[in-house]
Amino acid sequence: MNTTNTPTMTVKEYIHSNKPRFLDELFELLRISSVSADSKYKEDVKRAAEFVKSSLEKAGVDKAEICPTKGHPIVYAEKIVDPKLKTVLVYGHYDVQPPDPLDLWTTPAFEPQIRDEKIYARGSCDDKGQVFMHVKALETMLGTSGLPCNIKFLIEGEEEVGSSNLTEFTRNNKEKLKADVILISDTSIIANDTPSIDVGLRGLSYVEVEVTGPNRDLHSGVYGGAVANPIQILCEMIAGMKDQNNHITIPGFYDDVLELSKAEREELNKAPFNLEDYKKDLNIDDVHGETGYTTLERTGIRPTFELNGIWGGYTGEGAKTVLPSKAFAKISMRLVPNQKSDKITKLFSDYFTSIAPKSVKVKVTPHHGGEPVVTPTDSPAYKAAAKAMEETFGKKPIPTRGGGSIPIVAMFEKELGLKSVLMGFGLDSDLIHSPNEHFGLFNFFKGIETIPLFYKYYAAS
Ligand code: BES
Ligand code: MN
Ligand code: MN
Repeated sequence: MNTTNTPTMTVKEYIHSNKPRFLDELFELLRISSVSADSKYKEDVKRAAEFVKSSLEKAGVDKAEICPTKGHPIVYAEKIVDPKLKTVLVYGHYDVQPPDPLDLWTTPAFEPQIRDEKIYARGSCDDKGQVFMHVKALETMLGTSGLPCNIKFLIEGEEEVGSSNLTEFTRNNKEKLKADVILISDTSIIANDTPSIDVGLRGLSYVEVEVTGPNRDLHSGVYGGAVANPIQILCEMIAGMKDQNNHITIPGFYDDVLELSKAEREELNKAPFNLEDYKKDLNIDDVHGETGYTTLERTGIRPTFELNGIWGGYTGEGAKTVLPSKAFAKISMRLVPNQKSDKITKLFSDYFTSIAPKSVKVKVTPHHGGEPVVTPTDSPAYKAAAKAMEETFGKKPIPTRGGGSIPIVAMFEKELGLKSVLMGFGLDSDLIHSPNEHFGLFNFFKGIETIPLFYKYYAAS
């Protein structure tokens, strides 16, 4: 494959001379609408898996395969240089969040475009763009100095819907997935001039609730005032789940929360963060959260209770006088060490059921969950990632706590006994999951440049 380039080319030169092609190839992947949540995209999800497989083959892996699951397929590939060398397992996901609301995109979600030095498309940052950095980093290494480690790739298609089939796959393929460490690029850095590495992620409990009042929608005048309105009841139940200090009132909710020491909290708050810029960016006059904690702490080390959606009754045009039969809400709770997803889901469910007045019936349906993690900063792999980033960014990366969740990190630790390094290159302002998601060209190419250095330093450690 590397016929036109001399083997003495450096990584930087190789990237530089292939930039347009790398982007063309990434755009091809971004054009595939691999939305895992919606079954109407099933074939597209499959096409994305095939694209990832063939791009890994072109990059130079020894073997690549599509592993079917009960849901969307998993792509597995490997390049074993020498079994005696260390092995890095690269994890990522090629599925994306639904693109809606469509009318808020400046250009269509699956028609990638570059504007102001950024790639705009659903999945550009989360996580196709970041997965593709690893594919191109492999090609670059093989086209230049070679590969100092063995590499395995596990790129799944169900991360955005809870990775429900990955645990079984992992259990059944322990030998195949054998490695020394897991490398993941699916998180962000503080800023392009302030590199960072997430050393913790929150866990998740996601539930849906249904409150039923009367057995049918009623006339709000004929019955109103005498029968419970399930929307009102649901709002009251939810409103009572936080006190004046925005402390969650579910009994036992905080029991297992690992409180950080004063020194640890001070350390965490040393990370560069400008509250005024933060508010300005979101167009809010004030932040909001648990009393006694800073914004970095509220997103990094404290659990949350958030409504993701609430609905019921009449929401169409004009006015309809109706006392609805049902009301619904989707609720996510972000968890921190040492909370357990199943336990929190049960605490919520028991409490929600216990506070429901006799005038309604309630139903709680748990969705996916995941456990929180902290990753080590004293491991050879973390040190290699930090050294690699320091070299390409010109600054030591700051260890940070990410507010999002990647549930498979804890799962891999449990099933494979492997720790992960979260060497992400996105920015929190990349609008992942939102309209106009984007990924900086700077970030994409910085990733491709940094990854080979990770292998170099990790192999030498
Ligand atoms: N890549 C994100 C998680 C993330 C983003 C971590 C930014 C840290 C910083 C991932 O794709 C994601 O969206 N995860 C979901 C959880 C999943 C179970 C649906 C999340 O955090 O909501
Ligand atoms: Mn992701
Ligand atoms: Mn995501």
